[in-house]
Amino acid sequence: KECQQVRHDLLKWYQENKRDLPWRKYAQHPDLNIRAYSVWVSEVMLQQTQVATVIDYYNKWMKKWPTLQDLSEATLEEVNEMWSGLGYYSRGRRLFEGASKVVNELNGEMPKDADSLLKQLPGVGRYTAGAISSIAYNQQTGVVDGNVIRVLCRCRMIGAGSNNQVVMDTLWKLANTLVDPVQPGDFNQGLMELGATICTPKSPDCSQCPLKTNCKSYQRVQAEKLKSSERL
Ligand code: ADE
Repeated sequence: KECQQVRHDLLKWYQENKRDLPWRKYAQHPDLNIRAYSVWVSEVMLQQTQVATVIDYYNKWMKKWPTLQDLSEATLEEVNEMWSGLGYYSRGRRLFEGASKVVNELNGEMPKDADSLLKQLPGVGRYTAGAISSIAYNQQTGVVDGNVIRVLCRCRMIGAGSNNQVVMDTLWKLANTLVDPVQPGDFNQGLMELGATICTPKSPDCSQCPLKTNCKSYQRVQAEKLKSSERL
């Protein structure tokens, strides 16, 4: 059905068009704890900072603290120094506190499902929990961030102002239903990538979009064009 078509088209597009970003390499690491940790670091850095800026910070961070254990042995001063220029310093501090908690209270094992991540790790919200569980552990969990909000709202013609709770609940439900069961991490990153590169806020490049045949906004624009050409 429609859902399967969207999954297939998005995954195919993502495989062919994904950007070569450093955290995508770490997310393939054979050690699952390193995968989860590396996704965690990238998602926290990406929350309020642009991809282009994050790349250098991310590489430096992972070089200095390649594992949760290494980070847990750092000091807050070192963490703040490393974060310098990224802004919102509490993000770095919470990451550091989280690493200490995993090492000291959870036997060095990251929680694996979104619910436990959300409950057990400081500073991990619904979005980050979903990103870690889907990208690092291949769990079938959806994610909703700014890019995903825009893509899904356009695709399904959902509400104009997308900040209210009813719309957000609808979007989370939709994201959880749509997510590919076999490649949830690639699917979620595909939605983010589509929002970042094609389905952009001001000038979406619909002609290049893998989801256009399933997109309600695109269909409506096409129908309008057809109507106005018939009037000529
Ligand atoms: N923005 C948030 N998470 C991202 C990711 N995993 N890849 C690219 N951009 C992102």
